[in-house]
Amino acid sequence: MLILGLETSCDETGVALYHTERGLLAHALFSQVDIHVEYGGVVPELASRDHVRKTLPLIDEVLQEANVLAGDVEGVAYTAGPGLVGALMVGATLAKALAWGWGVPALGVHHMEGHLLAPMLEDERPDFPFIALLVSGGHTQLVRVDAIGRYRLLGESLDDAAGEAFDKTAKMLGLPYPGGPHIARIAQQGQAGRFDFPRPMVNRPGLDFSFSGLKTHTLNTVDACRSAGGELSEQDKCDIARAFEDAVVATLVIKCRRALEQENLKTLVMAGGVSANANLRTALKKALARQRARVFYPAPVFCTDNGAMIAYAGAQRMLAGQVDSEGVRVRPRWPMEELPPVAVVA
Ligand code: KG4
Ligand code: ZN
Repeated sequence: MLILGLETSCDETGVALYHTERGLLAHALFSQVDIHVEYGGVVPELASRDHVRKTLPLIDEVLQEANVLAGDVEGVAYTAGPGLVGALMVGATLAKALAWGWGVPALGVHHMEGHLLAPMLEDERPDFPFIALLVSGGHTQLVRVDAIGRYRLLGESLDDAAGEAFDKTAKMLGLPYPGGPHIARIAQQGQAGRFDFPRPMVNRPGLDFSFSGLKTHTLNTVDACRSAGGELSEQDKCDIARAFEDAVVATLVIKCRRALEQENLKTLVMAGGVSANANLRTALKKALARQRARVFYPAPVFCTDNGAMIAYAGAQRMLAGQVDSEGVRVRPRWPMEELPPVAVVA
């Protein structure tokens, strides 16, 4: 079964062709970062308009790259939520129109399920059941995954998402949006231990997260450095980035270990934009090895938003016979636990 996947939930237009027997045939991505950078964050209306411009040319690109015809596509999967409503509507209406024109089914996919299943695009795939750590710009969640569509939320952020905390910290340090990769880059030059940031909520039982206190701590540290010597030096910025990244990584690692112990599982899957963070990957791998547990994550290009994860998730559900009913419906907010289960895994 050949599935076209469209991702337009935020500031990336992602398009991919996934074949259930042959795997990923082609994928293309356009990042709107340059459009939003001067505003310090995503401007929803600009995001929607750019998805309108980019999606069709990207579809042509993947059809050519995969050397298939539009008539070969057997289903269209698109991100139906959560995300920015206008951006979602662009992908949904386009997907529905193409599917109708081609006489094939369409299916709205949950963006976080796409992230969660992205490690399945790799050669080495995790077996169910596992714990998923979903860390993106909008979500920080620990989920028990027994099968596709069988999710139990174990814990989540009570305030800012991990990616959001990276982005806000970057802003305080005068770094561009999205801040995660910039923080990671300058943290490499940071001196470990100059600042000791708190590890939020690790001393409390449970699997919830809170990153807003860390943000305040960062702000206070920035202010303290400023009042000591005027402007922040480049080294101050690197040291603060390092302390912040270390605190987030340590917190996520502690909670992941706790979740595995609680559920008596040995497999962790990490996905979402923050899972591209190299220090987080290394720290998790090391910590879990001590627990004889393994961690799986997508290739960096499939950690952040992309069409391949949507094509894959949609393909699994369409294989199980799930298709959209008529009409266009998107869900800017959409709890993942409301998704129907799927029995077949290909
Ligand atoms: O999954 P994603 O592309 O979009 C959402 O669904 O939100 O995640 C974007 C988030 C941003 O907050 C970005 O700063 C963060 O992922 N991010 C990173 C890294 N790369 C992207 N955070 C930390 N380290 C990175 N290397
Ligand atoms: Zn995402």
